[in-house]
Amino acid sequence: MGSQFKTVTIAGGTGALGYAISEAFLNDGSYNVKILRRKPENENDCYGLLRYSISLLAAAKETSVKRFISSEFGVGYKRGILPVSDDKAKFREELEKSGLEYTCIYPGLFQEYLCWIGYDVENKKATFFGDSNTKLFTTSLPDIGKYTVESLKISEARNARINVAGATLSLNEYLEKFEEITGSKWEVIEDRDV
Ligand SMILES: NC(=O)c1ccc[n+]([C@@H]2O[C@H](COP(=O)([O-])OP(=O)(O)OC[C@H]3O[C@@H](n4cnc5c(N)ncnc54)[C@H](OP(=O)(O)O)[C@@H]3O)[C@@H](O)[C@H]2O)c1
Repeated sequence: MGSQFKTVTIAGGTGALGYAISEAFLNDGSYNVKILRRKPENENDCYGLLRYSISLLAAAKETSVKRFISSEFGVGYKRGILPVSDDKAKFREELEKSGLEYTCIYPGLFQEYLCWIGYDVENKKATFFGDSNTKLFTTSLPDIGKYTVESLKISEARNARINVAGATLSLNEYLEKFEEITGSKWEVIEDRDV
């Protein structure tokens, strides 16, 4: 199925995820791809995701952008969990009432960042901070890029929050994958006190 969109403008295209999304749109080949960057003199301005996103939304409205894809790319937390997820939830509320067509994409944890939850590839060590049978959905950066491209082609993604997943495995099952790939048995630490 084709897409009604011709040009995509990617804010933060030099970032980890932005690069993967830019690459996926370029590989698709059917879009005019533009990367929106901060001016070099503003590179040290760290005024936070919420303010940055709100100014992007205002600019998108002013220029009659046809679809705004939120930069959230997490798990779609409600308010009250962490300050960063509160900001994302606040922005989602702004986006949903903005009148612009939108999509929020939830890929779970980025697979490249599994180290954040205790998988230490260098030392072949896994620390489990919770029940090792807990299922967790994760997606690689290149796959998030491809899902983002596809979201412009399917009607279900219009004005919607969509979940995507490259894998849904338990913490133990991710460990098995790491052991398979590294060809060795890993040390496991159970740390339930966090
Ligand atoms: N689910 C997960 O596991 C997970 C993991 C990591 C990140 N995330 C989320 O994914 C999204 C993208 O994260 P990322 O890691 O790709 O970000 P990143 O690598 O830090 O890239 C952010 C880009 O945004 C631009 N930018 C504009 N204003 C900025 C500012 N005030 N401070 C910092 N950068 C600014 C920069 O590009 P220019 O300098 O070219 O303007 C920068 O390269 C975020 O919403 C993040 O919370 C999710």
